[in-house]
Amino acid sequence: MTDAEVTVLGSTNARPGADNSTSPSSHLGFGIDIGGSGVKGAIVDLRTGEFVGERHRIDTPQPATPEAVSEAVITIVEHFGWTGPVGLTVPGVVRDGIMRTAANIDASWKGTDLVSMFSTKLGGRRVSVLNDADAAGLAELRFGGGADLDTDGTVILLTFGTGIGSALLYNGTLVPNTEFGHLEVGGKEAEHQASAKVRDDKGWSLKKWSSKVSTVLAHYEAIFSPDLFIAGGGISSKGDQWIPMLTNAT
Ligand code: BGC
Repeated sequence: MTDAEVTVLGSTNARPGADNSTSPSSHLGFGIDIGGSGVKGAIVDLRTGEFVGERHRIDTPQPATPEAVSEAVITIVEHFGWTGPVGLTVPGVVRDGIMRTAANIDASWKGTDLVSMFSTKLGGRRVSVLNDADAAGLAELRFGGGADLDTDGTVILLTFGTGIGSALLYNGTLVPNTEFGHLEVGGKEAEHQASAKVRDDKGWSLKKWSSKVSTVLAHYEAIFSPDLFIAGGGISSKGDQWIPMLTNAT
């Protein structure tokens, strides 16, 4: 087995004070991420991948039903006065615009036609929806850490948060909905042993948690022989502390 390199997700940070125009133009897009704890939206410069102004976040309503979350999405879109198309990311498998799984969000999302629901809620405008980690993988390769790296071959991006999200890219092409966080590693789903939430819940040190991550990465290496892992999620900001402690990677 060849050890894969591990790096962290580059951030597309907000640029306070930047042009906060809300009128859609060809180089601006609008993205909303629906997560278990927060719904976040921002205008994005599609040429650079950077936020235009601040992002806006509201707590995910509980219970996080599609109906309740749609209201949060409308609030965010209206906050920016955005009238153009909207891209949304969700924590689950999305095929043909329909959400097929709901591991870390209300079970009622499963089977929901996201494209038609959000389009209707947002006045009939064009919407596109994809898995959150897949979106991170595509963005990362285009604008983030991956843009400066040799990303030929097999790249696996993992997001460590409430769950573990995954994006599999081969020579820059995404294989969507891989859901590696649900692969069983040693008899237990990967995200139930190495997500950032598990670390918080158990009060583990970074050293202890990184040993769990190493076990998971070694399993992924054994199956996919990736050339590069990219780590994302809030905990990637501490990557300089925990990546050197990984035992599977060079
Ligand atoms: C979901 C994935 C998602 C990941 C991160 C997992 O529990 O199944 O679809 O990408 O969490 O949000």
